Amino acid sequence: MAKEYLELAIDTARAAGEVLREGVDKIAWIEHKGEINLVTEIDIKSEALIKQRIGKMFPDHQILAEESDVPKQKSAFRWIVDPLDGTTNYAHGFPMFCVSIALEIDGRVDVGVVYDPMRDELFTATRGGGAHLNGKPIKVSAETELGESLIATGFPYDLRTSDVNNLDHWNAMIFKTRAVRRAGSAALDLCYTAMGRFDGFWELKLHPWDVAAGALIVEEAGGKVSDLAEGPLDIYSQEILASNAHIHTQMSKILRHGKRS
Ligand code: IPD
Ligand code: CA
Ligand code: CA
Repeated sequence: MAKEYLELAIDTARAAGEVLREGVDKIAWIEHKGEINLVTEIDIKSEALIKQRIGKMFPDHQILAEESDVPKQKSAFRWIVDPLDGTTNYAHGFPMFCVSIALEIDGRVDVGVVYDPMRDELFTATRGGGAHLNGKPIKVSAETELGESLIATGFPYDLRTSDVNNLDHWNAMIFKTRAVRRAGSAALDLCYTAMGRFDGFWELKLHPWDVAAGALIVEEAGGKVSDLAEGPLDIYSQEILASNAHIHTQMSKILRHGKRS
């Protein structure tokens, strides 16, 4: 059965990715959800396609998607969808964005798919089934020293008005690592951690659709996911620390002291 869900998630992510690839540089409209929080015509188109495909196959399943209202009907099956992760990049033609689709069954994420249409990179995982990039198994890096590590993070859309803005964590981390990157797609940051391009990632004020698929992919690639203080990850709780497991405590020791959401 998990295979059937994974196949649907893959087909749907690829089709939505095609919408993203086709639409880049010809976006009909861009609106502001907040001062620096954008939504484009393509976010909406991609989400409509994803909801239509999942709804057709599994009409009783719930779909939690970024650009739609929170669903009211109950279901043991909840699809968690970011139709375009990296909208700011997308709006500027910066090629770092993706589609993220996860399936939560009875409160646990069991399937995760992230698709980067510009590089044609498809990251997939099923619980207990390992993590893959374009069908080949992936695993986290073997780095054990934070000082030799390449780390990723991001900043929240309310950073101009809230002092829980990750700048204190950034300032602390940048002196302890080889470098810290802010690439603009949390889902891809997680996948890059899963396959060793990054050694770790943290962020505050995220949403379940940013992390549901990517966190499973990190875990299934042998990494660790948690809150900033190494407590269990709750994808609805806004903060995440993900790593190759070796540098997890070193990162947490720095991050647990900053301002947290
Ligand atoms: C955003 C991206 C970004 C992260 C933001 C997210 P969106 O998602 O993942 O990297 O820093 O916190 O909200 O709005 O492009 O789907
Ligand atoms: Ca997102
Ligand atoms: Ca989005």
